[in-house]
Amino acid sequence: MKVLIVGSGGREHALAWKLGQSNSVKELIIAPGNGGTAQEGENVPVQAGDIPGLVALAKERQVDMVVVGPEEPLVLGLANSLANEGVPCFGPDAYAANLEGSKAFSKTLMAEAGVPTAPFAVFDQFEQAAGFVEQQGAPLVVKADGLAAGKGVVVAQTVDEALKALESIMLDRTFGSAGESVVIEAALQGEEASFLAFSDGRRIALLPSSQDHKAIFENDEGPNTGGMGAYSPAPVLPAADYERTSKLTIAPVIRQMDKSGHPYKGILYAGLMYTQQGPQVLEYNVRFGDPECQPLLMRLDADLAEVMLACIEGRLDTVEVKNRPETSICVVMAAKGYPGAYPKGMEIHGVADAEKLDGVKVFHAGTALQDGKVYSTGGRILGVTALGADLAAARDKAYEAVERIHFENNFYRKDIGAKGLGR
Ligand code: AMP
Ligand code: GLY
Repeated sequence: MKVLIVGSGGREHALAWKLGQSNSVKELIIAPGNGGTAQEGENVPVQAGDIPGLVALAKERQVDMVVVGPEEPLVLGLANSLANEGVPCFGPDAYAANLEGSKAFSKTLMAEAGVPTAPFAVFDQFEQAAGFVEQQGAPLVVKADGLAAGKGVVVAQTVDEALKALESIMLDRTFGSAGESVVIEAALQGEEASFLAFSDGRRIALLPSSQDHKAIFENDEGPNTGGMGAYSPAPVLPAADYERTSKLTIAPVIRQMDKSGHPYKGILYAGLMYTQQGPQVLEYNVRFGDPECQPLLMRLDADLAEVMLACIEGRLDTVEVKNRPETSICVVMAAKGYPGAYPKGMEIHGVADAEKLDGVKVFHAGTALQDGKVYSTGGRILGVTALGADLAAARDKAYEAVERIHFENNFYRKDIGAKGLGR
């Protein structure tokens, strides 16, 4: 098989690494890729949002499967365009991608399918939204309807904060057309977990639970980022609860999408909040999480290319999706200043040294390879990932690996996995 991976982050390096281990994968192309994927396959400079460019690349190189990392191309209809050309694509069509692309669509579908989620209302007029906020009182959560790179959600502790968020989203259009409407919902309290599953449109193969660390600083303080680290399993969602949790949060959505004539083929990611009433769905993503993908693929004990092809071909029952019993953890090394402004172009040392540790793999995110040297190009730079007998062992190994890596202005959270260890 010749496989084209779309994207350029740590998730895509992990996908390239795992797909490269498949017996059936003979060639890997990554568009546009990063300094890590360049060592697993061939990077081609076509951007993830360039749908015609990606379709042309897939045709020209006669790829057998396209694996889409990020949400943007899916929401823009890459799967539809590839289907028109007869190219198999791992990832849902544009309609099903609305599960992530429109929070109003997603919440409405959850309500229809009986998925536990915070009570909500949708508005496309500022005056009405503001009136609702004043009538409800704080705390409240304000969400831009469309894609906003993870920045369109404000958990407002006061009415004033909620009104400011509405102004910024609906009037100032800080996130462009993503702010044409908003979802306003009740604020929930609890611990978050990520729960992902493969689907072939009808059948489901669950992956183990995982947990992201969204805030930039220790103890979940400071602004949200794309994710500063993740580990799997997350003790808040133990294996004994997977089936029951899927019946509440994954299976109803797969059924509902099938009924609507858009069977969901790909990875469905449920962002859960464990409240006193049990799990509530905060959001769906239509792809692997980044960085959750890195620890999940380290644990996956299956031929990823075969599993993905089985999803596309509607025969998930013909493959086995096993997972290693160990714990894995990914610590993100970022540039100081991220998620605000940060320096770029730092040369990175010590990756090979870190990977000498047994069970350690360093996934690149914002890097580029130039004349055999690796330089930073983004805010999240590396995802140092380790497998260990338990969470404490995996964490110690990951941080030992982190200490072997050196570049200027580096920053990482020192408490990845702490919540899990606390349980
Ligand atoms: P979302 O993109 O919808 O997952 O929201 C991003 C983050 O905002 C989540 O990971 C939560 O930390 C927080 N969040 C979203 N919805 C709620 C809610 N209803 N109550 C409390 N926190 C929330
Ligand atoms: N790590 C959260 C996400 O990928 O959306």
